[in-house]
Amino acid sequence: METKTVTISVNGREYTFGVGNNFGDIQPNESLLSTLRDRLGLTGAKSACEEGACGACTVIMNGKAVSSCMQLTVGCNGKSITTIEGLTDPKTGELHPVQKAFIDYYAFQCGYCTPGIIMTTKALLDEKPNPTRKEVEEALSGNHCRCISQYHVMDAVMSVAEKGVN
Ligand code: FES
Ligand code: FES
Repeated sequence: METKTVTISVNGREYTFGVGNNFGDIQPNESLLSTLRDRLGLTGAKSACEEGACGACTVIMNGKAVSSCMQLTVGCNGKSITTIEGLTDPKTGELHPVQKAFIDYYAFQCGYCTPGIIMTTKALLDEKPNPTRKEVEEALSGNHCRCISQYHVMDAVMSVAEKGVN
């Protein structure tokens, strides 16, 4: 019998998993968040509500920001995924301009929500390099911060948006 597999590309690297109940297989109900964190060791995407309501687990899939807790890995076959770990320049190790702006503007406190917010911001700026403040607010409306760092986040994102350096 043919073994079912799922192949995903994460930060430019391809991974293929068996699907089923054998040791190491992806379970049919396994979330992309679990696969990223527990199998691939990419713990930048955070687990919080696990029901699509907080944005802490946001990654970019085929160019769109998505809640990885709401995606079944078996449904991601052939998809290209970028996590916060994939934003750093692989050659120089330099942070992405959005990451730098978050540091420059002190746009986090505990930092738990930060990877998700940065990934949503990156997806927005890839699509629209010079968004208005209102558009940024709308894009980030699904990313919640319990430390109330929103004002600094907005300043950080607008600094990148105004320069158009994404
Ligand atoms: S953990 Fe995925 S949206 Fe909250
Ligand atoms: S910085 Fe703590 S949850 Fe946002």
